[in-house]
Amino acid sequence: MVYHIPWIYTPVRTVLAIWHQLTKTEMPELAKCSVLMRERSRVEETIHAMQRAGAGSLQVISDFDMTLTRFAHNGKRVPTTHNILDNRLLINEDCTRKMRELLNTYYPIEIDASRSAEEKLPLMVEWWTKVHELLIEQKIRRDMLAHAVKESSAMLRDGYKVFFECLAEHQVPLLIFSAGVGDVLEEVIRQNHVFHPNIHIISNYMDFDQTGVLQAFKGQLIHTFNKREGALSHAAGLRELQGRPNVVLMGDSLGDLTMADGVSEPQNVLTIGFLNDQVEERKESYINSFDVVLVKDETLDVPNAILRYITSSRDE
Ligand code: TMP
Ligand code: MG
Repeated sequence: MVYHIPWIYTPVRTVLAIWHQLTKTEMPELAKCSVLMRERSRVEETIHAMQRAGAGSLQVISDFDMTLTRFAHNGKRVPTTHNILDNRLLINEDCTRKMRELLNTYYPIEIDASRSAEEKLPLMVEWWTKVHELLIEQKIRRDMLAHAVKESSAMLRDGYKVFFECLAEHQVPLLIFSAGVGDVLEEVIRQNHVFHPNIHIISNYMDFDQTGVLQAFKGQLIHTFNKREGALSHAAGLRELQGRPNVVLMGDSLGDLTMADGVSEPQNVLTIGFLNDQVEERKESYINSFDVVLVKDETLDVPNAILRYITSSRDE
C-alpha cells in the first residue's frame, strides 16, 4: 500500500493511512470479495475528491437493463424491457418465437469476449432493427403496456429504493441511458414508485398513431454499442447535467462505458461495471475497463455505499 513506501514523508503517510482506514469504515461494502478493482487507491481518491466537491458537482449516468434491473432471480433470468413485451396482450406466439430466436442468436454475440465492439456493432443494428420491425407488425397498443409490466417478472436490483431516493433527496441528476424500450422502462420505475423529477432518460421510444397503436420507433436507434453517439447528441444538451463535472457511471456492458462521452470537461469519473454473465471469460476485460467490477452481485449495495459517502457531508 502507498503508505508503506519508506520515502514518503511521515505526515503524508499518516494522512494516507487514515484515509484508507476511513474508506474501510465508511464503505465496508467495497471490501466484499465480489468487488474487484484494478487500482483500489485510484478508486478511493476519486470517491474522496467527489465527496469534497459535494453532491452539487455530481451526476449519475446509468444503463437500465441488467444494471438497474436484476440479471436473475431464484435461478431465472429477469426480463429486459424488450422481453417484458413478450406478453399475449401485446404480441402473438409467432412474434414471441421469432424474438426468442433472435435473442438466442444475437445475445451470445453481444457478450462474446473474443469479438471486438466494431465487429459486434453491425450485428447489434441487425438485431434491434429486426426486433423493432416485428414489434411494429404487432400493432402494440399503448394502453396495454402498463398491464404487461404489471404481469411481468421485471425487478429492479435490491437496494433500488435507497439508490433512487438518495439521488432525489440530494438533487443529483440521474441519467438513465438505455438501449431498451423507453416506454417500458418508464413504466417499470413508475410502478416501483421511484420515478422522481431528477431522472432523465435517453432510450428507444415508441411512436404511437392517434389511435394509440405502435407505428414506429422515434429518433435514432440506440443499441448497446452506439451509446457514444447518443451521449454526444442528446446527453450533452441536457441543461440539468451542466456544471456537474463528477460522474458515477454504471453499466453491465463494455458499450456502456461511452455513456459519459457527452459530459463537457469531466473532472472525476468513476465507472462501475456489473459482471453478470460469462464471468471467467470476461473478468479480465471488465477489470481493465471499469474502475469497480461487481461480480454476480444482484444488489445496488456498492453504488449505494459510494453515493452515501459522496453525498454525506457537503450538500449544495
Ligand atoms: P440496456 O442498454 O438498457 O442494457 O438494454 C439493452 C439490452 O437489451 C441488451 O443487453 C440486450 C437486450 N435485448 C433483449 O433482451 N432483447 C431484445 O430483443 C433486444 C433487441 C435487446
Ligand atoms: Mg444493460
